[in-house]
Amino acid sequence: MKIIAIETSCDETAIALVEASGGLKSPKFKILKDFVASQIKIHQPFGGVVPNIAKREHLRNLPILIGKILGISNFQFLISNKIPNSKFQILNTIDLVAVTVGPGLEPALWAGVNFAKQIYAEIRGNNKRRKPQKIGLQGVSHLDGHLYSLLLQQKNIDYKKLFPAISLIVSGGHTMIVLMKDLKTIKKIGETRDDAVGEAFDKVARLLDLPYPGGPEIEKLAKNGNPDAIKFPRPMLDQQNFDFSYSGLKTSVLYYLRDHKLAEGKMENGEWEKQKADVAASFQKAAFDVLIKKTLKAAEKYKAKTIMISGGVAANKSLKKAFIAELRGLKRGTTRKEALQLIVTKFPTDNAVMIAAAAYINHLRKKKYKLVANGNLNIK
Ligand code: KG4
Ligand code: ZN
Repeated sequence: MKIIAIETSCDETAIALVEASGGLKSPKFKILKDFVASQIKIHQPFGGVVPNIAKREHLRNLPILIGKILGISNFQFLISNKIPNSKFQILNTIDLVAVTVGPGLEPALWAGVNFAKQIYAEIRGNNKRRKPQKIGLQGVSHLDGHLYSLLLQQKNIDYKKLFPAISLIVSGGHTMIVLMKDLKTIKKIGETRDDAVGEAFDKVARLLDLPYPGGPEIEKLAKNGNPDAIKFPRPMLDQQNFDFSYSGLKTSVLYYLRDHKLAEGKMENGEWEKQKADVAASFQKAAFDVLIKKTLKAAEKYKAKTIMISGGVAANKSLKKAFIAELRGLKRGTTRKEALQLIVTKFPTDNAVMIAAAAYINHLRKKKYKLVANGNLNIK
């Protein structure tokens, strides 16, 4: 099945063309085209994503990206938004148009939903050889996208050895633990009660005068710092649930900087850089300690065979290293026959390939979402 997927939930405009096969027993994906137009530079001066600017940029980028998918650089096409007949061969082979309907910024989501409807209408209208009802249009949850991104480009997935799995989704908007009994049976077992972990990285980065998005900046800076220099709190670490809280940790960083009079211009430059690195490293460790401990606790409780990590924060190499170190320690002290395997997504930050993967799985399990932008869509 050939899927064209569109993602516009936040500040990345993305379109991908993916060939999916294998069914629910062993799904496989071949990525034919994958384009992401990032708006990071445009939102950077504001220190975060501005919804209406995101929408405007999506509307500008979408025709350009579909032009790239089809190999058109025709300016006329961009003005009229009409696809030339000669370029329809690729679209004629598409079985499913998939688009993110939520969660995310609603003005941004609408840009994608309306564009997907337009593309779908054009494909159906121009398809002379196939019955129009054979072509589908499907709304996709962005969270399903992150969750199923684990199935993409992972070599040698042995589906028999994968489940039950504990899946940790960590992004700018979400922090949650999902129990996957199999590809179809998923249940959220915990989530953040306030800020998402990626959001905490972005906010702490701002306190340290680092640009948006803060995650990669903090990760880089933390490499030069001492993670044990400052004892930041580990909120909810020992509670008997799988929930998180990150707003208190961010506030602790704020108070620490204030109480120690740490700021650019208030101290020698070299000293500020050193302090910044220690704050970044100590914050990162505190944030990850809670993620790791709660995920492992969930894996233990549900006798998981696999831990999966997805979402933008999964791009952080120190997170993967810390998980591996913890799993090694666990292996030594356990009587389990099989080691708990760790899979980190190869598609952490927002993209459309993961939306195609989720569309395929949801199509097979007959899970449908309304074709309406829903900023608060939850995982089911
Ligand atoms: O999944 P994503 O692209 O968008 C959402 O669905 O939110 O995640 C973006 C988030 C941002 O908060 C960003 O700071 C964070 O992921 N992020 C990172 C890293 N790369 C991106 N956080 C920590 N370390 C990174 N290397
Ligand atoms: Zn995301």
